[in-house]
This record gives sequence, structure tokens and C-alpha cells, in this order.
Amino acid sequence: MHFPSDFVWGAATAAYQIEGGTAVDGRGPSIWDTFTHTPGKVLNGDTGDTAADHFHRWREDIALMQALNLAAYRFSIAWPRILPTGRGKVNQAGLDWYSRLIDGLLAANITPYITLYHWDLPQALQDEDGWLRRGIADDFAAYTDIVSRAYGDRVKHWITLNEPAVVAWLGYMFGEHAPGLKSDVPTNALLASHHLNLAHANAVPIIRQNVPGAKVGITLNLTPADPATAKSADMEAATRYDGFNRWYLDPVFRGHYPADMAELYAPYMPEVRPGDLERTRAPLDFLGINNYTRMVVADDPGNPLGIKFVHPDGEYTTMDWEVAPNSLFQLLMRIHREYAPREILITENGSSWEDIVTETGEVHDERRVAYLNAYLEACSHAIADGVPLTGYFAWSLLDNFEWAFGYSKRFGLIHVDYATQKRTIKDSGKTYAALIAAQKS
Ligand code: FCB
Repeated sequence: MHFPSDFVWGAATAAYQIEGGTAVDGRGPSIWDTFTHTPGKVLNGDTGDTAADHFHRWREDIALMQALNLAAYRFSIAWPRILPTGRGKVNQAGLDWYSRLIDGLLAANITPYITLYHWDLPQALQDEDGWLRRGIADDFAAYTDIVSRAYGDRVKHWITLNEPAVVAWLGYMFGEHAPGLKSDVPTNALLASHHLNLAHANAVPIIRQNVPGAKVGITLNLTPADPATAKSADMEAATRYDGFNRWYLDPVFRGHYPADMAELYAPYMPEVRPGDLERTRAPLDFLGINNYTRMVVADDPGNPLGIKFVHPDGEYTTMDWEVAPNSLFQLLMRIHREYAPREILITENGSSWEDIVTETGEVHDERRVAYLNAYLEACSHAIADGVPLTGYFAWSLLDNFEWAFGYSKRFGLIHVDYATQKRTIKDSGKTYAALIAAQKS
């Protein structure tokens, strides 16, 4: 494998998944607190109340990042730590906590990458309809202004949103994520998507204004779709599934929604005001891609989008996601060809497996090691073929709260024993550390 000498080696986390400390130091409740405390929403009734207790153990966690040889760390800011009710009075204790984290990272020579929104909306804003209200984009702008002013002297890399598609569809149509709204029609998901786009559009110039030398991007979850057969019905089904990717790529890079999908969604389309999508297309310094797998899709007229998923033989993680490194290679080539972002970062990639801590205190997660190697080879191959891929962030630094699956899925390079909060670097973490060291030397 070959990577440029300035390639950014990192790992990623998100606030609600690791921090805990949800009720301390003035943090307000988020939609994920409400959701996890509603019986039946999350597997085993798990909540993020304690999570990996990173709120208290962040110094130890920075030392672990150093042990992994990380050059960069992507984390998210919990909006309700900064603005407990979403807007208005700033919670200084919350601002100070992230400020200490940032200083700790810089002292350890680790470059911070901030994600402004990784799903933990202040509950007070949900009480005003959350992402269904157009004005939320202005609340996001005010929040962005506060955070980018506070940290802009020290943090240069900014990601506005994490996976708007997941926010909109899982939160506002399928009900699997907070706020848990369900619907038979995509009206709300499309409206939420549009307001997420407006929030992103508002944030980009604010960050540029407040942060000298800022590098600004957005993180999209992009999952390639392969047709189950060469029949035209299945190929069209794959194109429709790919519509979930294009629905977010096209506004950001082309300033419009994809015409084929807009036609399909015609009865459910949100109000798009003049100028909305021109603003959404603000030039970005990088595109963040989260990719874990691919989908194999067949036509199924009995289904709202007319698609069903097929499971070909292969290796599947405990998320039931196929290990498909070549699909990442193809995705990178395609995004470079069709959308030509200035730079691409893999902002998340990783795999969940059943991990066992041995009696001697080791975790031999050879399947995660193999996954990591295979996906990094795909990255290296794409770079050799001309893709401006400039960094890779493993998901995740630590085992953590995996949303609707609670603590049942482990993605970490570092194992967390939730009863004791003991951290153990897995073999995958050691492999990653060695690979980074080899690339740097
Ligand atoms: C992504 C999320 C991230 C994590 C991984 C497994 O969709 O961004 O928080 O849960 O999936």
C-alpha cells in the first residue's frame, strides 16, 4: 500500500456515542436522550447516559490516540452542551469542556476535525418540530457561529453535518432513529433533507468568516448499489436506490435535486424557494464520505421505492453489512469522475464483530484487521488511479453506543468494557498503529 506522505491518518467518534455525562455541567437534553429513554426504541433499553464515559476519561483517550499513532481525530460537538435549549443563552461550561479537549489534542500533536451535527439535536428544538421547521437552519447558523468563533483559532477542519440522509430517513420516515417519526410517505424525510441542506448552506460562509484558513466540508453516507441481475428492472431499481446518494450529492455539487428522483417524489416534494439550492452549492474544500458496505438491489413492485435487497454469498459483519472493499474503490472513482470534489476524506469506515477479551487481556479481532487492510488497499488503489483522497478516519476509536443497536455492536479499534470502562487496544488498533508508523517512516 502506498499513501502520500501528507495523508491524514485518523479515527472518528460522535458525541452521543461516547461522551456520557448527559446531565452534567449544564448540558440540555437532546432528542437521543428522549429517544433512548422511551421504552422499546433501543435494543436492550440501552442509553447514552454513560456510554464510554469519554466526558471524564478524555485525557486517557487522547493518550490512547497517541498509542495508535493518530495524526487526526474527528469528533462531534453536542449542540445541547453549547446551547442547552438550542438557541439563546450559551452554556460556558460546555464550551470550556470542548476547549480543553481541543487543547489536549493539539498538545498531543493530533489535529482536531469537528463535526457540528452528529444527530443529537437539542430536544427544545424538536419540540418546535426539529428539522421540519425551515427556521431551524437559522438556529444552526447561530450555533455554528458560536462554536466556530470559540475554536476557530485552533481548529481548521470543519464538517457541517454527518449523514443528512440518515437523519432524514431514519428519523423522519422509518422511525428507527430519534426523533422516531414514522410515515408511509416521504414528505417529512424530504422536508427535513431540504432544511438540513439549508443549515449546511448557512454554516459554510460563517465558518469561513470566523476561521482563518478553514477547510470546510460535509459528510455524506454513500452506499453503492449493484443490481441483483443484468435485467433492466433490477438495474433501474439500483439507480433508484442510488437516488439516496444523489439526493445529497447533487444539491451540494450541482445545485439541484436529481431529476429522476424528483419526478418519483413529485407528490411529496418540499417547498424549494428561489436561491435555496444555489446556496447549498457553496464550494467545499472536501467531501467527507462514510462508507461501510454496498447494497445489492432488485426490483420489487410491492415496495414504496420498488426495491428490495438481496444478500449474495459473502462475508457479513454483525451489522449484516457485506464486506465489499472493491465497492469503495469504485465509489471513490465514480465520485471523483462525476462530482470532482477538491479533496475527499473517508470520514468513517469500519466493521463490527463479536469481540472477545482473552484471559491475558487481548482482543484478537482478525476479521476487523482483514477488513481494515482490504479497505485501505482500496483507498491506496484509488489514489494511484488519481482520486484526491487525502485522509482516512477509522470508525471508531472506541467501542460505543451504536444508536438503535445500543451497545450490542462493537466498531472500536479499542475495546471498552462498559462495566469497568477499561480500554484495551485490539489487534486492529495495533495493526493500524503499525501501518501508520510504516507510512510515516
Ligand atoms: C454511521 C454513523 C456513525 C456510526 C456508524 C456505524 O452511519 O455516522 O455514527 O454509527 O454508522
